[in-house]
Amino acid sequence: MSSRLPYEVIAGLDFGTTFTKCIVRNLVNEAECFPVLFELKGGRSEYFVPSLIIKSQGRAGTPFDTEMRGDGYVHFLKMRLLGHMDPAAKPWNKSGSQEEARSDVAFFLSHVICGIYKFVAKKWTDFGIHPDDVLRVNICIPVGDANRANVENEFLATLSAAYSSVKLIGGKPAAFPTYAEASSSLNDPKADKRGWDFCASYPETSSNLQAFLKSPARRQGLYIMIDVGGGTLDVSIFRYTPMLQGDWKLTYLYSEVICSGSSQIDMRLKERIPEADITYLRALKESRAGFSGDQRQRALAFLSEVEREIYIEVAQAMGRTLENSRSRISPDAALAVKDLRSVRFFFVGKGFVKYPYEEAVRFFHKTWPESPQQVALVPPSDIKWPIGLVPANLFVRFTVAYGLSFLRENLEGCKFPDQVKWQKPFPPEWYAKPAVDFEDT
Ligand SMILES: Nc1ncnc2c1ncn2[C@@H]1O[C@H](COP(=O)(O)OP(=O)(O)OP(=O)(O)O)[C@@H](O)[C@H]1O
Ligand SMILES: [Mg+2]
Repeated sequence: MSSRLPYEVIAGLDFGTTFTKCIVRNLVNEAECFPVLFELKGGRSEYFVPSLIIKSQGRAGTPFDTEMRGDGYVHFLKMRLLGHMDPAAKPWNKSGSQEEARSDVAFFLSHVICGIYKFVAKKWTDFGIHPDDVLRVNICIPVGDANRANVENEFLATLSAAYSSVKLIGGKPAAFPTYAEASSSLNDPKADKRGWDFCASYPETSSNLQAFLKSPARRQGLYIMIDVGGGTLDVSIFRYTPMLQGDWKLTYLYSEVICSGSSQIDMRLKERIPEADITYLRALKESRAGFSGDQRQRALAFLSEVEREIYIEVAQAMGRTLENSRSRISPDAALAVKDLRSVRFFFVGKGFVKYPYEEAVRFFHKTWPESPQQVALVPPSDIKWPIGLVPANLFVRFTVAYGLSFLRENLEGCKFPDQVKWQKPFPPEWYAKPAVDFEDT
């Protein structure tokens, strides 16, 4: 029996539509956390694991099995599962039953959890020696307020099954679970239910906001945060008010999740060019690469058509965001409009590119005297980056994982917008004052 305190390691697991990433934090020394470097078979390591599985010749594999080949790639696992519950995510849900989508996700996540255990064992070499050492896994759910309970239950049940299917020997995973092990853990009422004790879920927006709250760059004011991922695009508008003695107040004004994330571009291209592989279509979108001759002209024409559609959807979501937040900013319409002009925005997610996304976000400010200021999210100092990584570029990929690496109790502002009571708007005198950053006061 070890005389040290048990380890309690929290894994913030960002199960993204295209990539999965993770940050771990050991609560015994809470002041630091680490991006997980996943070890793949054959010696390669990755921070970003593609969220897909491979089904070929009666076998199933994950990106951890680098030897697994074949053309049976199942992409967009998360949105496929969501598509059985949320009509907005239907486009991803092309085939297969909910049961199958669930098993696919449980299988993929079980390998990811194994990968996290392996990283933990390297970082804290005596992890598992104490019988009470534990790894907790937090995920976020990709959904607005509608359908929340259903989606939350489904994702949590699937994650818990994945967690329980990872068998441990002395705190270390014995082997990657097979597809049958992961899916039977889902469906067997007598299966090990450890997962239910150690897994939790948060809203994605709150996880992102945690990165803002811990960022040295935060200032008093109104902000719009936009997360452009593979599946969803999340817009939130909130007011951040520092108070005396380091206290602060965060007021959500409005938030929206729409399924116009970056992989919608690939998928709508696939509808127009069904014979092309989704990987090529993604490369076309990301770097205008691939295809030749007439086929290339055709593909590029479709690409601009699809980007235009997305531009309009994002612009409409921005319109709703500004419209719906106005009355919550101030009962006086003129003051609200004036205040909105001071809004700053920041973005997270890899899909946020100038066109269609940034231009759609800025569209509404064209008639304003000056363009809204974009703020950079400075990485919090508790993330211990391995030498050689460039944190400024990378941090926007890790904001969700970072937010999830806290215990739920400590996840400040971890609420859905509809759980936040609308605070009384600020009194009119407040608006008469020029806006000052708290740094200057
Ligand atoms: N240079 C680029 N240009 C355009 N899109 C890009 C570029 N690089 C990456 N992307 C897109 O960004 C998306 C991945 O972003 P990210 O990792 O933030 O998403 P995710 O977390 O997997 O998705 P979600 O948060 O919606 O579940 C992919 O759809 C990818 O094609
Ligand atoms: Mg994401």
